[in-house]
Amino acid sequence: MRRKKPDVETAGDGILTDAKGGPEVTRQTDPTLVDGSLNLSGNLPPIVADVFEQRYRCALSKVMTEEQLSSLVGSHRFMGTERDRSAGAAFVSLRLGSPPDVSRIVVTNGTQSAIDRLFDGIAGRGGVIAVEELTYPAVKPMAARLGIRLCPVRIDDEGLVPDSFSDVCERDKPSALYILPTLHNPTTATTTLERRRAAVDIARLNNVQFIEDDIYSMLPLNAPPPFATLAPEISWYILGTAKSLSPGLKVAYVVAPDSAAAGRAFWPGVRSTYWMPAPLNAAVTANLVLSGHANDIVGAVRLEMERRHELAKDILEGIPVATSAGALNLWVRIPRAGARLEIARLTQDRNVIVGHGDAFVVGNCIAPEALRVGLGTVLNRDQLSRGLEVVRDAYRRVLQPGMTA
Ligand SMILES: Cc1ncc(COP(=O)(O)O)c(C=O)c1O
Repeated sequence: MRRKKPDVETAGDGILTDAKGGPEVTRQTDPTLVDGSLNLSGNLPPIVADVFEQRYRCALSKVMTEEQLSSLVGSHRFMGTERDRSAGAAFVSLRLGSPPDVSRIVVTNGTQSAIDRLFDGIAGRGGVIAVEELTYPAVKPMAARLGIRLCPVRIDDEGLVPDSFSDVCERDKPSALYILPTLHNPTTATTTLERRRAAVDIARLNNVQFIEDDIYSMLPLNAPPPFATLAPEISWYILGTAKSLSPGLKVAYVVAPDSAAAGRAFWPGVRSTYWMPAPLNAAVTANLVLSGHANDIVGAVRLEMERRHELAKDILEGIPVATSAGALNLWVRIPRAGARLEIARLTQDRNVIVGHGDAFVVGNCIAPEALRVGLGTVLNRDQLSRGLEVVRDAYRRVLQPGMTA
């Protein structure tokens, strides 16, 4: 039975939603579902089953055979056990260069939960947080719920614009900058090292802390060093596993400036929120990291993304696409006002769902004329080719009618 196609709207992560506002499917597990539509609006890493399956199975069976299960699932594990936090230290060391002291590590139920606690702990009701002018959409309702005002800082192809950050610091007095410095979502830009250094100087001068969401940073090979290495005393570093290892396990590792700060930010929420990781998920993730299998998974994601990028380059030739090695999405710049919505509607008519920039906008900034096209969410390259051909055809029909087949 064919379902009625949803009207184009956006919510959450730039994802088109159905008329009731429910999110579209985020992972295509059965291409015959939902009119056989392909979801290119999500930003999940590709599943490389022949590598993942055996590693996940191995981690799960190790937990089942090596851990005392009644104790594992019979209690909370607030900040994570010592082993979980050692695994966290090992995982973040891939970006920080060396493992931080485990007393600075907090294991959380994903990145969103960490952001929620840090926004509340650092800014709190009536407080101000600076963010990039396009930012991860989930932080907007989060800030609204917590009574926090978000102030947009300009970004360009080299990431955060330091002068704009300085202006925001002087005018709005934020307590923190929430930033996606590596493979920014949605633009895929990476803030250069020079700009990171400039931002550190500005932050120190204005007493601003960094909340650094580095979730995409495991995928490129040469990402610049995190703020947490340039200014550890004012940095909260969050390395989620959702974009590199396992979106479904919902585990993120946070590195606090010091252990006392970690306790101050996270402990008050223990009684009233759910930021703590599920013990089983934390243990499985720790196993993946400590066995070295996490590296195999990240390697497989990188390789598959390389192939998917090559495919996209071929199919979308002649279309202005911004992207970077390792990025899970393309950012397709549309050279005519309003055309993004026309293109999204046309692709949706052919059962291909793409995201657009509107959901990422903060405050009164103008929505960027761009589409976000996820490369990782569909199950295989054939599906991706099919989806990208529909995007290309829609783009040409609206903007290059002379090229339409
Ligand atoms: C920038 C950013 N941070 C965090 C997340 C979600 O992380 P988690 O699933 O660990 O909460 C996403 C997912 O789209 C994201 O794009």
